[in-house]
Amino acid sequence: MTFISSRMLSNTAEDTDINILERKQTMLLRNSLTISHELVSRVVLPGDSVVDATMGNGNDTLFLAGLVGGTGKVYAFDIQEQALEKTGQKVKNAGVQDRVALIRDGHQNMDQYVPKGIKAVMFNLGYLPGGDHKLGTRAETTIAAIEKALALLCREGIVMIVIYYGGDSGFGEKEAVMAYFKTLDAKNYSVLVHEFVNQANCPPIAVCIEKYID
Ligand SMILES: C[S@@+](CC[C@H](N)C(=O)[O-])C[C@H]1O[C@@H](n2cnc3c(N)ncnc32)[C@H](O)[C@@H]1O
Repeated sequence: MTFISSRMLSNTAEDTDINILERKQTMLLRNSLTISHELVSRVVLPGDSVVDATMGNGNDTLFLAGLVGGTGKVYAFDIQEQALEKTGQKVKNAGVQDRVALIRDGHQNMDQYVPKGIKAVMFNLGYLPGGDHKLGTRAETTIAAIEKALALLCREGIVMIVIYYGGDSGFGEKEAVMAYFKTLDAKNYSVLVHEFVNQANCPPIAVCIEKYID
C-alpha cells in the first residue's frame, strides 16, 4: 500500500542527499492514524452517511463531518458524557453540528440508530486520552460492534480500526480482534493490516476491512 503525493517527490535546492532520503522514508510509511484518514477519505463522498464508533475528543467525528459535507450524516458514539461534551463543542465551533448526531450509547448498539447503507465506520480502540483508563474499549463489545458495522455497510464500504494497545489497555483486545479478522470470509471481505513490526512501545495498528457484498 503506497501513498505518494507530489509534495513527497518535489525536493528543494537546499536538500542534501541524506535528508531527502530520510524524509522520503518517513513520509512514505505514515503512522496508522494518518493511514486510516487517507483510506477513509478515498471512499467517503459528500452526501454519504458514516459512523465514528469511538467519538472520544471528537477528532475523527470532525474529520468525517468534513468529508460528508452539508448533505451527509455522521453518527458518533461514546459511552462517556465527557466525550459528547467535548465533541459537541468541537463540531459547533466548526459550524458542522447539523450533520452530526452525537449518541451516548455503546457502539455495539449502533444498529438501533444507524440506517443501512453507510459508507465507512471508524474505530479508535483504547481509552480516551486524558480520561479514565478503565473506560476504554473492550474485546467483546468491540467485536459485536464491528459485526454490526459490517452488516450496516454498503458494498465497497470500509470499516477502519486503529488499535491502541499495551500500557493500561493491555494486549487482550488487540489479540481478540486480530483473531476475529482472520475469521472473515475472503469472498465477502478483504482485511488489510498496517503494522510497524520493528518499533518500540506498541505503535498503533491500522486495520481496514473492505466489503464486497450488499
Ligand atoms: C481511543 S478513544 C477515541 C479517540 C477519539 N477517536 C478521538 O478523536 O479523540 C476510545 C473511546 O472509546 C470510548 N468507548 C469505550 N467503550 C465504548 C463503547 N462500547 N461504545 C462506544 N464508545 C466506547 C471511550 O469512552 C473512549 O472515548
